[in-house]
Amino acid sequence: MTFIFKSQPLINQRGGDKAVLFGDDFINNIKVTYRAKYGEEFPELSHFLKKMLLQAMVEVMEDNRVLFNDDEIGFKGIIPAIFAAQLAAKLSTKGVGLKIKFTRTKDDIRNVMNLPDEWEEMVMQKVINKPAVYFDNNGMLDGNPAYRQFTPLPMAAYCLKCHGSMEHNPLNFGKDKSQWTNIDMTGFEMENWTISDFGGGVSLSIEKSVLE
Ligand code: HEC
Repeated sequence: MTFIFKSQPLINQRGGDKAVLFGDDFINNIKVTYRAKYGEEFPELSHFLKKMLLQAMVEVMEDNRVLFNDDEIGFKGIIPAIFAAQLAAKLSTKGVGLKIKFTRTKDDIRNVMNLPDEWEEMVMQKVINKPAVYFDNNGMLDGNPAYRQFTPLPMAAYCLKCHGSMEHNPLNFGKDKSQWTNIDMTGFEMENWTISDFGGGVSLSIEKSVLE
């Protein structure tokens, strides 16, 4: 998500060489970003699930190749949240017992596909006022024992460009109030979140049987 965020100017620019977004180049950039962010080596690809995850990430970028190379469209809409949704959909077709979901508390959910399940709702209520990674080695996924983890995403001022209220919407900048829209640049209705609201987070589940 960090690399997709950093690459927005490249993704959205008209023309130019975008090779760093695809294939091995893309994965190398993910590794460089990981090292810079966590100050440690990228994990060894010691398990097929890890290879599968990287493979699925490359496939999502490949699915969007024509869009990325379209010189007529400026803003392409492939932001971290959309990448996460496409990656989640891609992983669900692989049948490997690995699930990723970008979610938030039930009220004010933007895309109902991201609605939390019971476990996610329970965990978010626990961490909502004290954001911290939550790990559960006794969870369930689709009726099977699973390791589950929820990683909160801190709210930042730029989130409000899409999730905030009309005065934060760049589409309204410089326009008369009577012409303001509450539809953000991605085509969704804005939710009026504020900087002190909960930012949601990433929920990751792995069925135990795949790790045995
Ligand atoms: C460019 C607009 C944009 C920005 C900026 C943005 N988001 Fe989103 N966000 C979206 C869109 C679009 C979706 C729906 C993705 C989908 O269809 O699954 C979304 C989905 C989400 C979700 C999933 C739950 C839901 O309501 O569907 C969370 C949580 C979220 N965003 C939090 C954040 C946070 C926190 C930030 C800042 C760190 C942020 N977003 C920045 C556009 C944006």
